Amino acid sequence: MPGKEVKENVLTNQNCDVLVVGAGISGLVSAREILKADPGLKVLIIEGKNRVGGRTHTVELKCAGGETEKWDIGGQWVGKTQTHIIDLIKELDLETYDQYSEGTKWIQIGNSKHREYDSRFPIIDKTGNTDTGADAIRITGGTQQISQKLCGIIGWDKIHLNQALLKLNFLDENDDDTLVEAIIQSTLDETKISKITAKRVILAIPPAECSKIRFQSPLPFDKKQFFDGCYQGNFIKFVATYETPFWREDGFSGEIFSMGFTNNPRETHPLYSVLDATTATGKSALVGFCNNETWSDSTPKARKEAVLKDLARFLGDKALKPIDYVDKDWGQEIFTGGCPTGIIPAGNMAGLARAREPWKTIHFAGTEMATVWIGYMSGGVQSGLRASHEVLLKLGNKNVNWDYLNTDWNFAGKMVDYFEIFNDTKIAIFHQRIDNKTLCEKIARVRSEKNDDDPFVVLNLTILIDKYFQWKRELPRVKPFYAVKCNDDPLILRTLGALGCGFDCASKNEINKILKLNIVGPEKIIYANPCKTRGFVAHADQVGIRRMTFDNVEELLKVKQFHSNPEMILRIAVDDPTATIQMGMKFGCDPVSVAPNLLQKALELQIKVVGISFHVGTGCKEPFTFETAIKHSRDLFDFGIQLGHHMKVLDIGGGFPGFDTDHISLTKIANVVNCALEKYFPVEGNYEIIAEPGRFFAAAPMSVVTNIISSVKVPASRITRKKSDANKDGFMYYVNEGTYGYFNCKFYEHYCPPGEPLFPNPLKDGKLFHCTVWGPTCDGLDQMEESSMKRNLEVGEWLYYPNMGAYTLSTATTFNGFKNPKIYYFIDEKSL
Ligand SMILES: Cc1cc2nc3c(=O)[nH]c(=O)nc-3n(C[C@H](O)[C@H](O)[C@H](O)COP(=O)(O)OP(=O)(O)OC[C@H]3O[C@@H](n4cnc5c(N)ncnc54)[C@H](O)[C@@H]3O)c2cc1C
Ligand SMILES: Cc1ncc(COP(=O)(O)O)c(C=O)c1O
Repeated sequence: MPGKEVKENVLTNQNCDVLVVGAGISGLVSAREILKADPGLKVLIIEGKNRVGGRTHTVELKCAGGETEKWDIGGQWVGKTQTHIIDLIKELDLETYDQYSEGTKWIQIGNSKHREYDSRFPIIDKTGNTDTGADAIRITGGTQQISQKLCGIIGWDKIHLNQALLKLNFLDENDDDTLVEAIIQSTLDETKISKITAKRVILAIPPAECSKIRFQSPLPFDKKQFFDGCYQGNFIKFVATYETPFWREDGFSGEIFSMGFTNNPRETHPLYSVLDATTATGKSALVGFCNNETWSDSTPKARKEAVLKDLARFLGDKALKPIDYVDKDWGQEIFTGGCPTGIIPAGNMAGLARAREPWKTIHFAGTEMATVWIGYMSGGVQSGLRASHEVLLKLGNKNVNWDYLNTDWNFAGKMVDYFEIFNDTKIAIFHQRIDNKTLCEKIARVRSEKNDDDPFVVLNLTILIDKYFQWKRELPRVKPFYAVKCNDDPLILRTLGALGCGFDCASKNEINKILKLNIVGPEKIIYANPCKTRGFVAHADQVGIRRMTFDNVEELLKVKQFHSNPEMILRIAVDDPTATIQMGMKFGCDPVSVAPNLLQKALELQIKVVGISFHVGTGCKEPFTFETAIKHSRDLFDFGIQLGHHMKVLDIGGGFPGFDTDHISLTKIANVVNCALEKYFPVEGNYEIIAEPGRFFAAAPMSVVTNIISSVKVPASRITRKKSDANKDGFMYYVNEGTYGYFNCKFYEHYCPPGEPLFPNPLKDGKLFHCTVWGPTCDGLDQMEESSMKRNLEVGEWLYYPNMGAYTLSTATTFNGFKNPKIYYFIDEKSL
């Protein structure tokens, strides 16, 4: 079909608004998007191949019943979380069906025998969750239709096939908005060169192909280095059709994962992975990849024989007789050069964000330039949307969709060096250190420009890392086990785990969360909840967690019944009466009158007690409480050892401040703790000293920014409740994040710092008014600041709240339908 349009579509020298290079999914999405925003713009698309679709290629094969049917020999599967491609598939009215995966799957690696396995490779993703996998869904009729349908919308007359971009010249090198001249060569007649002058060019081609383009003025070094460093992967894809899905009949799913050696340990069998490729219409086939390092050099005939023989090793001899067979060595495909995607070599990742940035009037799309699902069709769509909206912005179009532009971070320009993606979370990496407030100012400015007044949160991983090292410096003998309940953000957990921290978990879900993140093993988890559910105790046993706290006999009996090998830690109650929240009324037994009996009872039940724990109260203000508790612990160690318990663990709990104040700091507590340890648990005793800090780590890295959504002038007396203020002005401010969200810490933690205007206002600074700050819900309890003094603030202004990471996110609700704010993660490069 496309071939016909090309021949009539002769390319002549001409001017246009936008030249798109590459008629793969990415280039076509960007062209379609630009024309959707302004059909009056002149957009041309050139494509080096004689077809559209790029790395998607659908071919027709003979199949059962003497019929023919279509199969993908290029990009094929999509997954539920690949929202960009899923949305496009829906928009183009394409039908989808599920990848078949029932039955036995085979695996063989290296010299090992082939064996069955359970995992649904490759229908799993990084998180092991099949729902979020990349290979769960197929498109009826093949994926090349995506590009063909897009061409239908754009207009085939705008697509010029067999036209290769050779060179780009800037017509005025000193002008950042310079026109670009593209030198284009026909691949059918190499003597035919066309020149297109464009206001903007979108390069939607793989990085290795970008590297072959000549630029009149040299590419910026970081871009050049990035493009030159990327090379394409190297798989050969094959499809074999069969009369029946005989493997299903034999109880096999058709799924094979293999990198097995032949008799020669340096030579691999051809198969890398295989899946059932039976179509929506029920035509049976197998699809797979082989590694082209070994097999690219053989003839297609020899390769086919080897592939079929290898299939028969797993699925039986019926595999030897396909109705039809096709394979494609993508390494040999001109303008693509490999499969499935560009490989970004180690060390080159840092250049990715800069490679993506526009350079003068040239914009960069293509799946390798995406920020989510890089290398997949979905990444092609996302990068195409981003590049097209960059162009629309520069052309002054009103229909720019800011969501595609990642502008929340663009403000920082060159300050953001690059981004790392962890699961689906984007972390901005800064060259230089930036503090939370400055970052919030920058984000708020861009948001205000976009009329986006949603509240937001910043999480500074550099502060978290600094806190960890501060802890190591000040309390060198005490190993921190972070209290997950305080803030269970996966990046906080992941960062602390990577630094060597253990974890204090309070429930099965917290335990599972830590184990699923795969950051530490069960030996680095303490189940520090003295009253546990029976099922949770059994679960702790199943997953290998032995250390658990207790403070009563019932708990000992429960543990005896439901855990095969516990190591119990007795929690005693020693409270700082001035702490923000005392724990002793709920947990911990009396160290003098009850604790010795519990040690005795454990002995009778033959349960090992390995240590003593306490929690002086969250927000402790009196460091000497630690000394008292450590002394009690010593007495109980002595008593326990006398009884025959192998006492070795002292757990000094939490209570450490999230940030320093005039009254309390980690240093003040550390001075007392270190001396007490020296006195009661000297180094020679080889004790294991641990703690369960929560707030200390989580509070300072996070700041919250809210926006004023309403401002009501009232007599100040309504706020201060003093009649004498009746003639003064006061203000009630309503902001869009409240106590049912992050500010719940006001109730649970008795903590809510006064919000500070994020930006100064020379006209209003200076004069302060009494004010109340209310959250956005309809509940009267939703009040963050009852009475504080602030300058007069207008609707749309931002309020900044620092140190908001402890017991905020983990308890925030969506009451009244308010979503939790977006979190911006960042770190400075030197902390990595
Ligand atoms: C065998 C195979 C299996 C895959 N499996 C999957 C899968 O199951 N799921 C998935 O999501 N993704 C898969 N992928 C990846 C997916 O196909 C790609 O990520 C996606 O199609 C890339 O789209 P794109 O528009 O960014 O690039 P491309 O499709 O590569 O398009 C770029 C276009 O630019 C053209 N071009 C290059 N240089 C020039 C030049 N100098 N002048 C003019 N034109 C030029 C090329 O010919 C090409 O048409 C697979 C890829 C392959 C090859
Ligand atoms: C058992 C236990 N350990 C540790 C902590 C963490 O305390 P903090 O955040 O005060 O350090 C808590 C908080 O509730 C807790 O219950």
